[in-house]
Amino acid sequence: MGRLDGKVALVTGAASNPGLGRATAQRLAEEGAKLAVSDVDVVGAQTCAEEIQAAGGEAIAFRQDVTSEDGWVEAMEAISTAYGGLDICVNNAGIAVLVPIENMTLEEWNRQIEVNLTSVFLGCRAAIAEMKKREGGGSIINLSSVAGIVGLQTCVAYGAAKGGVRIMSKSIAVEAAKYNIRCNSVHPGVIWTNMQAQATGLNDPSALDVSPSRIPLGRPGEPLDIANCILYLASDESNYVTGAEFVVDAGMTT
Ligand SMILES: NC(=O)c1ccc[n+]([C@@H]2O[C@H](COP(=O)([O-])OP(=O)(O)OC[C@H]3O[C@@H](n4cnc5c(N)ncnc54)[C@H](O)[C@@H]3O)[C@@H](O)[C@H]2O)c1
Repeated sequence: MGRLDGKVALVTGAASNPGLGRATAQRLAEEGAKLAVSDVDVVGAQTCAEEIQAAGGEAIAFRQDVTSEDGWVEAMEAISTAYGGLDICVNNAGIAVLVPIENMTLEEWNRQIEVNLTSVFLGCRAAIAEMKKREGGGSIINLSSVAGIVGLQTCVAYGAAKGGVRIMSKSIAVEAAKYNIRCNSVHPGVIWTNMQAQATGLNDPSALDVSPSRIPLGRPGEPLDIANCILYLASDESNYVTGAEFVVDAGMTT
């Protein structure tokens, strides 16, 4: 008996490997959810779906740019056709363009807000409309960051977007509660993924600064650490949890 038996989940940004979306999709499928995985990288999304199928799970994959309003309509149509409805939406896709404010262009600012914040608004709006159709409620999980809670170097736009995701998730929780749709945010610390490698310019997690003065548990996180938190929020075990922010950062922001 899986913790998500009978549920349908969408995970955006599921192509990257190692990536939080990929690990989350696999973990939710392990617990019995039927998965829809999407990404601008359709080959990576298809590989993710094939891995889930090879492990005995159910998955479909499609290309989706989360900044496209039409793309969200098409995504909901694909999920409705394949599975007849949606129970869980993980708004995970994101980018990190870390630039000091003095050097940041307006284009860089706008792109961060578009991909990391506006996309989550579009995703939540589309998910609520789809979840309402079956009257069974649902769970929306939005990927924010520790950068959405505290100020960090070169995170002016990234942090503004992630802080926006944090408070938007709470507003959505209040508005969608009448449909028994829950909405929570997850705030990862330093997790070794392609984004982390790109942002730090490092090839190996062993080169990350994980000194206890920065990260009390003294190690980087793994995608599974975040996937397990999302699994809890996706499952009925968190039925009484909405509008909450789950910080998974080994004590970094304490
Ligand atoms: N890794 C970390 O340490 C960390 C920390 C805090 C927050 N996060 C957040 O977690 C989420 C996942 O991060 P990750 O580390 O797995 O990143 P990643 O770069 O490894 O994966 C992100 C995925 O999103 C996809 N993507 C980018 N733009 C897209 C778009 N417009 N439409 C659809 N897909 C798009 C990429 O193709 C990629 O597959 C992001 O929202 C990120 O900001 C990550």
